[in-house]
Order: sequence, then structure tokens, then C-alpha cells
Amino acid sequence: MIKKAVFPAAGLGTRFLPATKASPKEMLPLVDKPLIQYAVEEAGNCGMEELLIITGKQKRAIEDHFDSAYELEDALTKKGKKDLLEMVRRLNHINFAYIRQRAPLGLGHAILCAKPFVKVEPFAVLLSDDVIDPEDSLLADMVGIATERDAPVVALEMVAEDDVEKYGIIEGKDEGGGIYRIKRLVEKPKPSEAPSRLGIIGRYILTPDIFDILETLPAGKGGEVQLTDALNRLAGRRPVYGYLFRGKRYDAGDKLGFLQATVELALKDKALGAAFREFLAGLMKDEFSSPHPRR
Ligand code: G1P
Repeated sequence: MIKKAVFPAAGLGTRFLPATKASPKEMLPLVDKPLIQYAVEEAGNCGMEELLIITGKQKRAIEDHFDSAYELEDALTKKGKKDLLEMVRRLNHINFAYIRQRAPLGLGHAILCAKPFVKVEPFAVLLSDDVIDPEDSLLADMVGIATERDAPVVALEMVAEDDVEKYGIIEGKDEGGGIYRIKRLVEKPKPSEAPSRLGIIGRYILTPDIFDILETLPAGKGGEVQLTDALNRLAGRRPVYGYLFRGKRYDAGDKLGFLQATVELALKDKALGAAFREFLAGLMKDEFSSPHPRR
């Protein structure tokens, strides 16, 4: 059983400027929930209830969001708004801890900041930019593989050749059932240098021996300490696995991906879905039937 999960959230969010000038990217809402809440609920659904958020400057809204909101809860109780009350209280049983990453020195450095919290247990890492369809069981499947094989596991997706430069890419041996034994990992290679199209997506089950490597790891791609480089070293010492995810993932760290996630999640929303579908159908009809599409 893995109890602890780490959520790196110290990035500058430059792809969403100016929205992220004074507010955390992780608090941008997808329909009615901030991005990071999707990842937190995903971990909670796997029984992980000790969560660490790695924060940085301008990120205090995240702490407030996951805190109890006494005045709000009191007002909702008095008004008898039970549904809303239940919604704002839903995550109150989860323990949140926060550690500040003093400078954005890379994902590997962010994970190293988690060492005092994680101590000696295996733990999960969830990057909230990657939103996994709440109906999928990716994290639970990864926990199963990590436990059974007593090894770290990273989530993989088959990415387009033009996109290998956006991901950590693995070279691995297919062991069947979507599981790869990883031989090598490269952070954001050029398409001509990529060992495969198997890209790491933002879910990891890690073991605490990653910290020893991160402590002495030099900066890699982009001058940042890369988790991919640390995993590459780890794979030279012990088996490390990849698990090919075949479900739905949205790259909400990018404007187009964020819009796609918004539309698809809104279509699935119980309260909004039907009306939103009707709106989109009308919009599409206008767009494709008009000789002068609105652009
Ligand atoms: C990070 C990792 C990369 C991984 C990606 C998944 O990159 O460095 O290896 O493939 O997350 O989302 P980032 O997207 O933060 O630049």
C-alpha cells in the first residue's frame, strides 16, 4: 500500500501568462475544480491520504484551497446547502503538507525537496498538468505493478514523433501487459535521437533510493535537475518499469490541451453536459455551414 503522494507545483506557469502572473497555474479551473484537485482526488481514490505539495512563490492559494473553510462551511450549514457543504468538505480528511522549493531548479530538484516527508517508503508523484480521466485506473494499476515487482514504475504513452521533444522518452523491453522493463531514459530528445516514442506522462511510483541519486545529480536538459536523468541512473542499478497507459490523458499544461480537457470534461459533467453538448452542436453547425466561418 502506498500512502504518500507528492505534487510538484512550484513551476512558473509561463505558458499561461498573464493568467498565472499572480495566481498559481495549478488553480486554473477545469469546469469547476482547480487542475491540482483532479490529481489530489486521483491519489485519494487510491487510498493515498498523506499528500505533499511542493510549492513556490505565488502559490498560497493552493494551501487555502485545501484548508478547511470554516466561515464558508458555517454559512452553508446555516443556509441548509448540504450539497455545496459536502462538496467543499470532501477532501477535509486528507492530510496536506507543504514544502517550498526555493528556486525552480527542475522536477528532479522538486522531488528531492520531498525527502524529509517521504523518508523511507515508496511514494507516488503526480504532475497536475497531466489530467487523467477520473474514470481511469492508471494510478491504481501502477501501484499494483510497483508492489508486485517491488520496483519504481513510470506511466507511458505512445506519443507522436513530433512530440518526443516534449517528454522523457524510454528505451525498454516489452514484457507484455503494457509493462516495459526500462533500459534507458532520455529527457526531451530530438526526434532523430529518441530511442522510441514511449513518452513519460506525469505519474510515477518511486522508491526512496531516488533521493541518493538526486542529491549528487548534475543539471541536465535546460540547466535543470531532471527526474528522467535520475531514473536513468536508477535503471542501471535496479529494475525500473514503464506502464503503457491506454486511457485518456489531457495535457492541460498547454493552452490547447487545457481547452480540450475543459470541453471534454464539461461534456461529461452531469449538470452541464447536455446543455453544453447542445451549445457545441449549434456552434459546429454554424461554423461548417456558413460560407464565412467565424474565426
Ligand atoms: C516533465 C518531465 C518529462 C515528462 C513530463 C510529463 O516535463 O521532465 O520527462 O515526460 O513532465 O508531463 P515538463 O512537462 O514538466 O516539462
